[in-house]
Amino acid sequence: MTHRKATIFTRRQFLRTLGVTAGALAAGPALSACGATALTAAPAATAVPPTAALTSVPAPTAVPTVAAPSLKIGVLLPYTDIYAALGENITAGMEMYFEEAGGVAGGRTIKVIKEDEGTAPDKALEKARKLVEQDEVDFVTGIVSSGVLAGVRDYFDSNKKLLICSNAGANALSRGAKTPYIWRTSFTNWQPNWPVGTWAAENVGKKAYISVPDYGAGANTITAFQNSFEAAGGTIIGVQKTPFPNMGDPAPFITELAAANPELVYCFYSGGAAVTFMKAWGELGLAGQIPLMSSGFMVEEDVLPAEGDAALGVRSGLHWALSLDNADNAKFTEAYKARTGKDANVFAVQGYDTGRAIVEMINAVEGDTSDVDALIDALGGISFPSPRGTFALDANSQAPKQHIYLREVQNVGGALHNVVIEDLGEIVDPGDDSKG
Ligand code: BEZ
Repeated sequence: MTHRKATIFTRRQFLRTLGVTAGALAAGPALSACGATALTAAPAATAVPPTAALTSVPAPTAVPTVAAPSLKIGVLLPYTDIYAALGENITAGMEMYFEEAGGVAGGRTIKVIKEDEGTAPDKALEKARKLVEQDEVDFVTGIVSSGVLAGVRDYFDSNKKLLICSNAGANALSRGAKTPYIWRTSFTNWQPNWPVGTWAAENVGKKAYISVPDYGAGANTITAFQNSFEAAGGTIIGVQKTPFPNMGDPAPFITELAAANPELVYCFYSGGAAVTFMKAWGELGLAGQIPLMSSGFMVEEDVLPAEGDAALGVRSGLHWALSLDNADNAKFTEAYKARTGKDANVFAVQGYDTGRAIVEMINAVEGDTSDVDALIDALGGISFPSPRGTFALDANSQAPKQHIYLREVQNVGGALHNVVIEDLGEIVDPGDDSKG
């Protein structure tokens, strides 16, 4: 890898960068805010005195060099509420990659400024504004919730500021609400659900009941699963939307599912909501009684230990699995466990890949973030070997083109993990609503 570069800029490079970050330089160490972290000791961006002032020897025609200003990355992720653990995992994966890259991208020391996304779109929009307007970050990454992504979309679009989304799957951002300024390193909500609809109808049953949280990601889950499930001969016998972010007492919802006597239940829940649902599913005696399927977030490695045996046998679709057999996954999962003491999970993978995409993008523009179109060009062309397989972005949907794996929760040597049952092939978002 060619990530390590000296943090010395030529005068031309420095001035180019100065054009964008003049305010930030003026602010200097007062650069505020919660969660500002330089990943290596960043030298202050002060000009080096001309050589002639230090010696009597005339300066060669050498171009004076100055230390490059830090690369300021705004990170907007949930550190509170039901998706807090997702935010922590994405952050851990991203910071792990930045450290592997020596804390430097395009010759600039990486400085991360974190803000809490929470789950409320209006509050998250204020945080995005603060990162862009007060902290003067070079670009923003993060966003877990589809509702928040929809809420900040117009802000990034009208300000022509780059947002690299590391989770939220809102389909519209790859379709009718697409903007050149928002790209995803994660997935669209359509991707993990659509191929599983076909598989479920062919392998599990033809009568399904769907249960999802009542917000954008839940709605996307319904349309994607329903589209392919019905095309394969299945029937949706009911749809249940539970309150978001907190579903409250899950028992009435689960009782309603059981009473409908479906051949399978299909769900999307993640983080705290996934644990709430799965525990109640077990306590009400439904584990192993009604086949339960989901997008993989519901039974991902971050929540499995808390869900316990209720999750055994749940089958799900996702763009990664702990057991995925490739050299990059083996290296990543081992390093992540050594660093955090925990098994890796899909959110950590997304953070890690986002970190690498950022470093490669900034290297490609030699640290010059002044031209957002050049940044976007560089980002769109990035491809590298990842724990999920090859990471590459589809120019049409501005999201990864990636394989979806059908996984099953099994007891592996005394602990619950997702085991890959089948590769459902490379899945690329269609870029429109024709397939759900
Ligand atoms: C979403 O809101 O798009 C989302 C949240 C958690 C996991 C996956 C998707």
